[in-house]
Amino acid sequence: MTSAEQQQQQKQQVAEAALAWVRQDSILGVGTGSTVNCFIEALAASGKRVEAAVSSSEATSARLRSHGIEVRELNSTGTLDVYIDGADEFDAYRRLIKGGGGALTREKVVAAASRKFVCIVDESKKVGVLGAFPLPVEVIPMARSYVARQLVALGGQPELRQAFVTDNGNVILDVHNLDLVDPVTVEKHVNNIAGVVACGLFALRPAEVVLMASAAGVREFS
Ligand code: A5P
Repeated sequence: MTSAEQQQQQKQQVAEAALAWVRQDSILGVGTGSTVNCFIEALAASGKRVEAAVSSSEATSARLRSHGIEVRELNSTGTLDVYIDGADEFDAYRRLIKGGGGALTREKVVAAASRKFVCIVDESKKVGVLGAFPLPVEVIPMARSYVARQLVALGGQPELRQAFVTDNGNVILDVHNLDLVDPVTVEKHVNNIAGVVACGLFALRPAEVVLMASAAGVREFS
């Protein structure tokens, strides 16, 4: 089996494991990305019924609807029990980098509105210190250059994500080489830059649970 096939198999394994966190007839928060896509397929195949889902992206909404799962606006649901989403990196404290798919702002909102964030990953996402994956930062378009200069002042090297507009009509700066030894402080600093909508660090509010698939099976960090 190639490593890509192995990774795909692990995504499917962890997606299956996440079904145990889904309460029958609940309203579920659902994230974005290839691992979440496996989760949506697993949910649909499981026969487990959810009342509805709140989605973090247009792509996820379309996939949910294609399986007959109703998608509701967060404004009409109140607090959710569980939010299930992937990540680009996680550390031992369940702090994350997210936003490789560009859906970070809605992901942060739906996670914030949920009691429990269950993060589903394969073992390639585990790191000692966050930051090998460039940090995605969603920025309103007119603030792009200003925010980029502020990110350089923080020690990073921002790069505009080419030909990409978020579901909210904004742009993404992918920031390379930021020192994320103290991700909580960096998240506060980046959040504080005028023109930043959200950054892909989930350190102030990490995931409550990380389910990680590896060759040895699915392991839970909580
Ligand atoms: C989407 O914006 C991201 O936050 C995803 O959750 C993250 O990129 C993980 O995606 P994969 O499951 O495709 O690796």
